[in-house]
Amino acid sequence: MRLIFLGPPGAGKGTQAQILRERFGAKQISTGDILRENRSNGTELGKLAENYMRGGVLVPDEVIVKMIEAELQQLQGGFIMDGFPRTVAQAQAFDALLHAQQTPLDAVVLFNADRDTLFTRLTARWTNPRTGRSYNTVTNPPRVPGIDDEDGSPLVQREDDKPETVRKRLDVYERQTAPLVEYYRASGKLVEVDALACVDDVTRELIRKVDALVHTAR
Ligand code: AP5
Repeated sequence: MRLIFLGPPGAGKGTQAQILRERFGAKQISTGDILRENRSNGTELGKLAENYMRGGVLVPDEVIVKMIEAELQQLQGGFIMDGFPRTVAQAQAFDALLHAQQTPLDAVVLFNADRDTLFTRLTARWTNPRTGRSYNTVTNPPRVPGIDDEDGSPLVQREDDKPETVRKRLDVYERQTAPLVEYYRASGKLVEVDALACVDDVTRELIRKVDALVHTAR
């Protein structure tokens, strides 16, 4: 399975990637998580990315593409790209990498949601920094506030989930990432899901549509 999850911040890409990763064993490659891990480890990449991420703007394409290239080199089997590509330049570079490896994409899943819902979801999100599992104090609260149901770790709120930064990230998506919808539609590999549905329904719709596309292509 080789998938891209495309959609605005807060649409549920990370939530669904985690579910599919556990169910099908494909590797979830979240550029945001890789950057955050580098930031906590104080690497050069982390230091470079820090100001961009804090401001809610994109890290430069060349940095991201190099990072993905390194990930692909270590990869065996399928992947779910969560948060990459985010610009047409990143998509073109990714196409070239996949072409060179002869590993074409199966599908690009577009998560559709409105801005007000995204804003509410992001400003109420709490995450386990160790596993990436995400909760929402409004729609999907943990059993004990601030504690992960699964492993008991303390949950944290992301710095870029402050209201003013969320607004900025949503603007950046519209300007720089939304053009990828037409880019991938033209490739015939785009499927769309209603990201406003509950988590289980989104998973069902996603699997059904990806399966249908893959079977038609065979
Ligand atoms: P990144 O970490 O990728 O953040 P994002 O794309 O902004 O996406 P999010 O993680 O915020 O949202 P999501 O769609 O995964 O939603 P989630 O499942 O968590 O990027 C952060 C930063 O890193 C960027 O701003 C940029 O600076 C940099 N960066 C990363 N990649 C880059 C790239 N390729 N190029 C350049 N820069 C890059 O869900 C959100 C909330 O909603 C959760 O609380 C969840 O529990 C809840 N929820 C999920 N699904 C549902 C549902 N169906 N119903 C109700 N609630 C739901």
